[in-house]
Amino acid sequence: MNFKHTPANIVIFGGGGDLSWRKLVPAFYNLFINGYLPDQFTIFSIDFQNLTEAAYKKHILQGINLFSRSGKAKAADWKNFSKHLRFIQGDFTSDALYLQLIQTLDSNDKAFNTRATRLFYYSVAPRFIETISTNISKHNIANNRKQDRIIVEKPFGTDLASAQQLNKLLRSHFYEDQIYRIDHYLGKEVVQNILAFRFANYIFEPLWSNKFIDQIQISVAESVSVGTRGGYYDKSGALRDMVQNHLLQLLSLVTMDCPKNYDAEEIRKAKVKVLKKVRRFNAISVAQNVVKAQYVAGEIDGKPQAAYRDEPDVAKNSQTETYVALKLFIDNNRWKGVPFYLRTGKCMAKKSSEIIIQFKDGPHKIFKDDIEPNRLVISIQPEREISLLFEGKIPGLEMKLRPLEMDFTYQGSFEEETPEAYETLLLDALEGDATLFIRGDQVETAWSIVMPILDEWAKGKNSMKKYKAGSWGPKAAEGLFTQSAYKWLSLPENKKPTVIIKSTK
Ligand code: BG6
Repeated sequence: MNFKHTPANIVIFGGGGDLSWRKLVPAFYNLFINGYLPDQFTIFSIDFQNLTEAAYKKHILQGINLFSRSGKAKAADWKNFSKHLRFIQGDFTSDALYLQLIQTLDSNDKAFNTRATRLFYYSVAPRFIETISTNISKHNIANNRKQDRIIVEKPFGTDLASAQQLNKLLRSHFYEDQIYRIDHYLGKEVVQNILAFRFANYIFEPLWSNKFIDQIQISVAESVSVGTRGGYYDKSGALRDMVQNHLLQLLSLVTMDCPKNYDAEEIRKAKVKVLKKVRRFNAISVAQNVVKAQYVAGEIDGKPQAAYRDEPDVAKNSQTETYVALKLFIDNNRWKGVPFYLRTGKCMAKKSSEIIIQFKDGPHKIFKDDIEPNRLVISIQPEREISLLFEGKIPGLEMKLRPLEMDFTYQGSFEEETPEAYETLLLDALEGDATLFIRGDQVETAWSIVMPILDEWAKGKNSMKKYKAGSWGPKAAEGLFTQSAYKWLSLPENKKPTVIIKSTK
C-alpha cells in the first residue's frame, strides 16, 4: 500500500495538552516537511480548553519551535503545515462533540473525494477513555475496521485487573487489530535495530543463550526529576511507569526467539511467548531480588535538586519508589540460569539507557591473567551505539593484552537523520503497521510479571531505600549481585573494562 497517497483524518483527543504540544504535533510536522504525510490530511485537535483556532496554532508553532528535532519552523513550511490543523473545542462526554465530529469527518471525506483513514489518538487522562470509546463506537465513527485505528497512550491500566478491564472495554468497541497501544521506546531507532542486529546477522544467534551468555543488564537511568508530574507519578512509581512497559519491552526484544517472519503478529507472538516464561516473583524473591528507593536532595549537573518528597504534588510521606532494581530469570531452555538485572530511576547521575550482554569466560585459559569477559553493549540513548568489548594484543615485542572495543556508532555510520520515536510510530499507525505497538495479551503478560511485586510492596514489609539525587542509586542495589564478579556494568566506572596491561607470561 502506498500510504503517502491515502488521505487521513487524524483526531487527537486532548490535542491542547502537553504531549500534543511537545511530541505529537512536532512529530507530524517533521513527517510533513520530510514528505511522509499524504497530500490530503487534517489534524483535528479536540480539547476542553476554549481556544480560538489562531491561539491554538500559535501555541502549536511555539511547541514545534521548541521541541522539533528540525529546529525552528521555516515560515513557508509552517504556512503549508498549519493549513492542515483544526481546533475543536469540546467536552469528551457530550454527544454534541461526536455529532460535530461525524459531520466534520464526513465533509472532509467529501472534500478528499474518498473515505480517508481515521486515526484517533487518545492523549487524555485514563478516566476519559471509556466515554470517548463508547461515543466513537455509538456514533459509528470508527466503523471501518481496515482504515480506522485507535491509539492509546500509557498508562495502560494501573495493575493487571485494570489493564484487563481496559482491554475488555476497548475490545467491546473495536477489533483488536484497530487498537494501537503505544510504547514510545519501541519507536526508538536503536530499539528497532535490536531485531535487525539479532536476526539479520546469524553470527550472533548461536551465541544468544545460556550456553555463552553469563548475564544481561538493562539499565534506563534518567537524570530528570518528576518535575511537574508529581500528581501522576506519586500514584504510579518507577515499577509501573517504566518497568512494566519500557524495560519489559526491551527485555522481550533481547530474549525472544526468532519470529517466523517479519510480520506484526509473528513478532508480537514471539515477544509474548518469552514474557510468559519470566519466572513469577513471590514474597521471598521480592524481598531478595527487588530493591526500591526514593531520591533525597542532592545535586545533578552542578544544580541542587530537591528530595522527591519535596516535589510539587508529592505526598510528604510518600511511599512511591523513584528507583527500582530487580533480578529476574526466564525459565525456558534458552535462558535457564541466566540472571537478568533491570534497573531504572529518576534523578540519577546521567541519562543513559543501555543493554549489556556479558558473555561467559572460555573453559580453557592459555593466558595467565584474568581476561575481562566479552561484552556487547547496546546503547540506546543519549549515545546510540553498539560495541563489542574484547581482549587484544598490545603492539610490541611482548605478548601483552588489554581490553579493546569494536564500535558501531550511528553518527559515524549514517548520514541519515534519526527520526523521533513518535514520528516512526505515528507513521506506522497511519500505514496500519502494528509491529511496534503492544498487543492486548502482551500488556497483560507484562502486568502479570510486576503484579506480585506490587502486591508484596502493598503489604508494607519491603523497605524503601534512599539515594541521593545525582547518584547512581542506592547501595542496596549492589546487593542483587550474589557473585563478587558481578556489578552494575552500566556505571561509568564499570562499563568499560579498566585498561590493565596484562603480561601473559
Ligand atoms: C515515560 C515515563 O513513559 O518515559 C516518564 O512516563 C519517563 O516518566 C519517560 O521520563 C522516559 O522517556 P525517554 O524517551 O526520555 O527515555
